[in-house]
Amino acid sequence: MSSRIPGFYKLGPEGRLDALERAGVPSEAIEGLRSEGLSLPAADLMVENVVSTFSLPNAVAVNFRIDGRDRLVPMVVEEPSVVAAVSNVARLARQGDGFLTDADPSVMIAQIQVVPCAHPEATLARLCEALPRLEAEAHAVHPRLVERGGGVRGIELHHRRYEEDGRPTEDMVVVHILLDCVDAMGANMLNTLAEELAPTVAEITGEPIGLRILSNLADRRKTRARVRIDPQALATEAMDGLEVARAIAQAWRFAWADPYRAATHNKGVMNGIDSVALATGNDWRAIEAGAHAWCARDGQYRPMTRWEVRDGMLEGSLEIPMQFGTVGGPIRVHPTVQHNLALLGAAGARDLSRVAAAVGLAQNLGALKALATEGIQCGHMRMHARTVAATAGAQPHEVARVTTELVRARSFSVETAARALRQLRGEG
Ligand code: MEV
Repeated sequence: MSSRIPGFYKLGPEGRLDALERAGVPSEAIEGLRSEGLSLPAADLMVENVVSTFSLPNAVAVNFRIDGRDRLVPMVVEEPSVVAAVSNVARLARQGDGFLTDADPSVMIAQIQVVPCAHPEATLARLCEALPRLEAEAHAVHPRLVERGGGVRGIELHHRRYEEDGRPTEDMVVVHILLDCVDAMGANMLNTLAEELAPTVAEITGEPIGLRILSNLADRRKTRARVRIDPQALATEAMDGLEVARAIAQAWRFAWADPYRAATHNKGVMNGIDSVALATGNDWRAIEAGAHAWCARDGQYRPMTRWEVRDGMLEGSLEIPMQFGTVGGPIRVHPTVQHNLALLGAAGARDLSRVAAAVGLAQNLGALKALATEGIQCGHMRMHARTVAATAGAQPHEVARVTTELVRARSFSVETAARALRQLRGEG
């Protein structure tokens, strides 16, 4: 299967589905994508107070080669340029090795808080002594998970202190249970585990229990992606390739040094990752929370990626916690999610997180390349111009030429588009 589908963007939605089928996407997935998405009765079972469903564009990023395999990536996103940018970067990356990725096992953390804790040292000692009992009871909570290759991977104990000027301090002990959730994101399993084990923790410590909940700082479940780009591929009319590569590395150093820039830099990374998360029915808020918390681990908020020029090549990498699932939650209920997973050929949660990491890194490079050269407004206005052209009445075969005229005239009003359209049609 090749993800390289030249001219994919020029086709209409139907033509794109045909092209995907020819590229080897299973016909059930293609048929599924042609049919209705989430039905109202299914939506009504998902959340409370439903009145209707809400649609967003479901697009496919092309050109990706990830760990030697071509991948077509479903992305749900409302922002123009995101899908085009990642597809363009993926085309550059596949001139070399494409994206190389790896993912930790799907180990998440459930937290049980013991609070207030009058004698934290003694509480820690009691819990430490009872670790074999805690582990045995934790193992028993999700026995079927063990059959699937997951299960409890350890228990850790932490002493934490609430300490703010002018307020009484408060000591607490926090029990972390590490659980490999395999292909699930894991929230339900972890919360059940925390709640089931809490009475035992209370019995062992003789102290009150506070919260029992998963942690979204999934730092045992990190995913990495890296890519090497030949700078020649980055050359623009105004700058040679090495100059662009160096400007990209410099843009990255800005994000490393300045949290205001890091926030925007990382927003661009998450443009890619969230779009894959949405398309595959994943909890993007959890993924966002974990990724941003990880970025602040050394006391300053830092970029999720790293870019440098080494041995004449532009090298990029990304490492963040990724809590993706391919089973459970809305994944089972939402038909479009099922079809998107089939389109992607997702082989479990770790595979999906590796694809998302590659997309995040690609999106970041697309943004940095634009920012370090012509600026991003040029590309954004080109996308915007397509909508303006259509609003002025351009038919699909006329949109590209009207768009070109708007960009040339640097005017994006409907009036300019209507004038360009009249000229195109020879109407004066
Ligand atoms: C816009 O959605 C994302 C960017 O602002 C990211 C960045 O500045 O790196 C273009």
